[in-house]
Amino acid sequence: MLEFDSVTKEFRVGAFGRLTITAVDDVSFRIAPGEIVSLIGESGSGKSTIGRMILRLTPATKGTIRFDGVDVSTLGRKELKEYYRHVQGVFQDPFSSFNPVFKADRVFEMLRSQFYPDRSGSEWEDRVAKAVEDVGLNPVQVLNRYPHQLSGGQLQRMLLARALLLDLRLLVADEVISMLDASTRVGVLNLLAELRERGLSILFITHDLALGYYISDRTIILRRGSIVEMGDTRRVFQDPRHPYTQTLLASVPQMEWRWRDRPVSAAVPVDGDGTGDAEPVTVLEEVEPGHWVAVS
Ligand SMILES: Nc1ncnc2c1ncn2[C@@H]1O[C@H](COP(=O)(O)OP(=O)(O)O)[C@@H](O)[C@H]1O
Ligand SMILES: [Mg+2]
Repeated sequence: MLEFDSVTKEFRVGAFGRLTITAVDDVSFRIAPGEIVSLIGESGSGKSTIGRMILRLTPATKGTIRFDGVDVSTLGRKELKEYYRHVQGVFQDPFSSFNPVFKADRVFEMLRSQFYPDRSGSEWEDRVAKAVEDVGLNPVQVLNRYPHQLSGGQLQRMLLARALLLDLRLLVADEVISMLDASTRVGVLNLLAELRERGLSILFITHDLALGYYISDRTIILRRGSIVEMGDTRRVFQDPRHPYTQTLLASVPQMEWRWRDRPVSAAVPVDGDGTGDAEPVTVLEEVEPGHWVAVS
């Protein structure tokens, strides 16, 4: 369904834009219908840039992104609107998606005016209430409220509900869980898993390996804009082949560990520092069917 094909993204930086940094370096992967793919990497590794390119919020410098075989960079105004019916993003900071001056449910009204101008008021209200319930919220508690009257978890669920009102096929979820407290996390994670049961595909962007392990079918490990390892989530976590993946995994505090049982050297080398000192072109080798590892 989604094909990310040899995509590179360079940003011009510096006083006169004379320097470039390579945020994403020749990255290729696919997402099939109903699949949850986690994109895991440290801060600055290029995860959000990949999500933003899929959502056409920023263009790729090189390479092609296709949805159902169509190059998304070629979509005109009308087709782009159609694309956004099927592909939506929810981001880390739910507060930034709401205008504090307006009630939070304005995001639903905006959706209506943009995509469903011909729906009658009551029909639309019923759909909104249903979507809000689907994400585990009580419409009475969250509708007709200002953003500051709602918690981060509630706002994030509102954004998921908004996405559900469209004929969504791919959700780009960028660090959606990170802001939430532990009790809300499980709820949102399970919600995403339920959405998958309905055939939705999710690109689950996270720096948190445990979350990626919990939810995804396939895992992509990103380092400084390049894929170092990619494959079935269980295989990647149980049998990591690349030294970087091994180091990352070794540093994850296991759920069952108590703080005093923690291994002493849990430090991960700091990486993805945004300096753009990307390593030479990465070549991926298929070590077993569907499990790819960087060999250079
Ligand atoms: N608009 C931008 N202009 C310049 N550099 C950017 C821009 N957006 C991201 N970057 C840089 O690209 C790299 C990858 O960023 P990002 O995709 O946000 O990483 P992540 O989401 O993995 O933390 C970082 O070095 C970041 O500073
Ligand atoms: Mg990010």
